[in-house]
Amino acid sequence: MVYPVDHLPYLDSSELTSTSEQYLSTLQTQSVAQHDYKWIETFHSKVEVTGHNVSRLLLFEDNQLDCILPALKAPGDHAQVVALRLNGKWWSVDDVLRTTNKSRNGLVLVQSLVERVILFLLSQVVEKPPEEEALFSPHSSREHAKLMWSNGEAVGFYTIKQKGSLCDGCTSQSYLLPVLDTVLVRSSRRRSGLGLQMLEDFCYSFPTEEVLGVSSPLSPSMVAVCRKFLQKHEELRERLYEVEAPGGWAQRRNIWLSIQLGRYPFSVDEKNNPMLPGDSMKNEGHNTQCHNKKSQDARQEAVSSEDAGDFYSTQKTPANRLAH
Ligand SMILES: CC(C)(COP(=O)(O)OP(=O)(O)OC[C@H]1O[C@@H](n2cnc3c(N)ncnc32)[C@H](O)[C@@H]1OP(=O)(O)O)[C@@H](O)C(=O)NCCC(=O)NCCS
Repeated sequence: MVYPVDHLPYLDSSELTSTSEQYLSTLQTQSVAQHDYKWIETFHSKVEVTGHNVSRLLLFEDNQLDCILPALKAPGDHAQVVALRLNGKWWSVDDVLRTTNKSRNGLVLVQSLVERVILFLLSQVVEKPPEEEALFSPHSSREHAKLMWSNGEAVGFYTIKQKGSLCDGCTSQSYLLPVLDTVLVRSSRRRSGLGLQMLEDFCYSFPTEEVLGVSSPLSPSMVAVCRKFLQKHEELRERLYEVEAPGGWAQRRNIWLSIQLGRYPFSVDEKNNPMLPGDSMKNEGHNTQCHNKKSQDARQEAVSSEDAGDFYSTQKTPANRLAH
């Protein structure tokens, strides 16, 4: 089987949008006898494609590029996307994330439109907690991103705000340093070093930059990744900062120092509260203008008490440590 990422390298967004719009309007007028069915592996059944369970999915958040895709929803759960229509054919979400190309392995720069669709699926669809917002807001059509491929599957991504790129569409502010903006590893593939690999790739992509940023706020797991990374890479301890856009000195704080000072501890109560200790620098007002604001879900993501034990050594009582 050949998957979309392998056989549609030149798919064009305007062509895709016009065929999608056409399809969506014909769907509304189709009789039941004309309905299509899509086999969905995870349900072990076919899902009927009707005007009621197909919606218009807008791929990018910015106004620079409109890209629309028909999305098939799960029976009985219209918040769950189970398939996308690309190039005149329905593909299950799982198949859109697959590749048969053996050279697609490790971190690969996002270039084609299908790779942007995969970035969208990972950030907005497959890791979205039920009934909740996605971890991140949708990326722009020009976001600098890399996908992590492993065993024929897209299992994660990271995105960068390039130094000099605009912070958002509303102001003329631009980033003063390269910033690792969003990073995600699929839940099923966590704790196997992929997060570390992405942080390392980011840091070593800018060998001449004096200072590098990671977008604030850091989730508990990301703090743990940074800690492990900086334990090994001492030379980066003075270069890696948690930053707010645009990343001036007043909007940076050194990650290693913050870890040493115990600025990232969490307690059970604090986990349930959106504001975590050390959030004082997190200017929500400013952040909401930036389209890739990380949601509170990412900030609140739980680190297991067992795993995080030594990290939160300043908060030793069990009640003060995070639960799953
Ligand atoms: C943060 C994230 C990308 C980390 O990815 P990952 O592939 O699981 O990270 P790694 O396997 O490279 O972890 C490296 C080390 O960091 C620490 N670590 C990572 N996640 C941890 C956790 N949940 N609890 C405790 N320690 C953790 C461990 O020391 C780990 O090494 P070990 O497994 O040998 O003990 C992943 O948890 C994720 O996608 N989270 C949801 C999105 C998110 O929070 N993004 C960051 C926003 S700032």
